[in-house]
Amino acid sequence: MISLSKKYLTSIEDLTVEEILNLIEHAIEFKKNKDGNSSNQSLSGKTLALMFEKPSTRTRLSFETAMFQLGGNTIYLNSNDLQLSRGESIEDTARTISLYVDCLVARVYSHNTILELVQNCKIPVINGLSDLYHPCQILADLMTILEHKKSFEDLTLAWVGDGNNVCNDLLIGCAKMGININAAIPQSYEPPQQILDVVTKESKLKNSKFTIVREPIDAVKNADVVVTDTFVSIGKEKEDEKRKSTFIPKYQVNGKLMSYSKDDAIFLHCLPARRGQEVTSDVIDGKKSVVWDEAENRLHVQKSLLASLLG
Ligand code: CP
Ligand code: NVA
Repeated sequence: MISLSKKYLTSIEDLTVEEILNLIEHAIEFKKNKDGNSSNQSLSGKTLALMFEKPSTRTRLSFETAMFQLGGNTIYLNSNDLQLSRGESIEDTARTISLYVDCLVARVYSHNTILELVQNCKIPVINGLSDLYHPCQILADLMTILEHKKSFEDLTLAWVGDGNNVCNDLLIGCAKMGININAAIPQSYEPPQQILDVVTKESKLKNSKFTIVREPIDAVKNADVVVTDTFVSIGKEKEDEKRKSTFIPKYQVNGKLMSYSKDDAIFLHCLPARRGQEVTSDVIDGKKSVVWDEAENRLHVQKSLLASLLG
């Protein structure tokens, strides 16, 4: 296992292609040996803190289980329970956390909080979802694509929906791996320009294609991988009605839209899914869906990540 060049993970952009491949390779090993979990106790004596401003099912469960299975401990910190909620600064909180534990996973509203934590923590900080990025999810997504497609070569991924945190990091991750990208995103919901610039640059380096279109069929036609996510991310609840009227029904991944993808295409969704909104049950429960492999792979890639950062 190679040690990572950066001792933090704020976005998939922080990882080199070699590091992503290495993390996935080891995650595949962890998955193969999942019945012999207790034999690898490489994180014995290590403690991971999870500081969450937002709810989570998968991220919290998979990190806690990963640490437990590798012999380490976890401490879950709901940020409302910390002195942070009474005005203690991020800087002082970061310095305090660094005195006790070996690594921090943070799920925050503003990405600036992640950057401030990285700046002030003396331990590795992992972004467990911010308004801009979701790198751990994208490691699992790339692992799932490789598992089902055997290689990243000659693949086209279609993103359908909101240009949100998952989309941002997925586009960067796919561009880095040389996957062609067609994203169907409504006007005014595209990723920020600085992210589009990174995706364009990475795609050019790999000679792969990157386009943003408005028509979902144009993106999904002949795609190998189709991905969507909620239209109303955590923190966007006030825009609920406006977003639903923009995205539904046009950007919904339903059976008809999926029929334009290749016969052996796969469907990914980071979950939680709002069935009947961004995706219909026939798709998420259908034969192209690999969402449960994707969810399981969160555990394996995060073991790989934790072992790289702390092992
Ligand atoms: N995909 C994901 O991060 O799920 P949770 O919000 O449940 O952690
Ligand atoms: N885009 C979603 C992802 C949840 C895992 C959100 O931010 O709520």
